Amino acid sequence: MSHTIAVIGGTGPQGKGLAYRWARHGHVVVVGSRSSDRAEETATEIRERLGGNGADVTGAENATALASCDVVVLSVPYDGHYDLVAGLSSGLAGKTMISCVNPLGFDKRGPYGLQVAAGSAAEEAAELVPDARVVGGFHHVSAVSLWGDQDYLSDEDVLVCGDDRDAKQIAVELARSVTGREGVDAGALRMARQLEPLTAVLISINKRYKVRSGITVSGLPGSG
Ligand SMILES: NC(=O)c1ccc[n+]([C@@H]2O[C@H](COP(=O)([O-])OP(=O)(O)OC[C@H]3O[C@@H](n4cnc5c(N)ncnc54)[C@H](OP(=O)(O)O)[C@@H]3O)[C@@H](O)[C@H]2O)c1
Repeated sequence: MSHTIAVIGGTGPQGKGLAYRWARHGHVVVVGSRSSDRAEETATEIRERLGGNGADVTGAENATALASCDVVVLSVPYDGHYDLVAGLSSGLAGKTMISCVNPLGFDKRGPYGLQVAAGSAAEEAAELVPDARVVGGFHHVSAVSLWGDQDYLSDEDVLVCGDDRDAKQIAVELARSVTGREGVDAGALRMARQLEPLTAVLISINKRYKVRSGITVSGLPGSG
């Protein structure tokens, strides 16, 4: 099923990479930004990358981007997340909202997961917009890989958590555009408390081994 997806913070590397993957798979994508010029610049970059494949990618200021979509993806830094989501709450009401936001800190010892009063960024978004159907997902796929040349990130799984079954299924299906297969249902929205800071572990591994690590889940049905 094709969706109209607004990527809030779509001018950053993560949002741009996800927008590119979804547009490539026939979804209608609106890149959101605090600046309509920056949004249109990124949309143009994605359209150019996709050539004449009829990709439907446009750019708009965040609130405008929300208006036409059925799925919203939050791809902004955790710093500023609360104010951004609160400011857009009326437009977010009723939408399926996928958060890939990782609240991380960095100090001399490296990356670490920040304490979030609501439990996680995804739960914070759900508290701020109680009418939205919030899902956590796409926390562990790297922006560089998303914008890279691989057709699919076929060595990785997208872990998805949420309390609304239908919204979670949408995110599970959207993972196909990224990995070539369904995402993995990782449980209730509160699992975002585990999924978000897990990214700090991947960043530590990346630093230690000079790689771009990802998550693969073994033992799933059909995984052989
Ligand atoms: N980078 C990765 O590899 C990666 C991987 C997995 C998950 N993530 C998560 O995905 C999210 C986005 O990552 P990113 O690397 O793309 O981040 P980013 O480049 O720092 O920010 C993304 C966009 O968010 C907007 N933004 C920045 N500060 C904001 C604020 N205070 N209020 C509202 N909007 C703001 C900016 O867009 P405008 O200025 O155009 O509005 C910016 O281009 C983060 O939460 C990150 O943890 C990132």
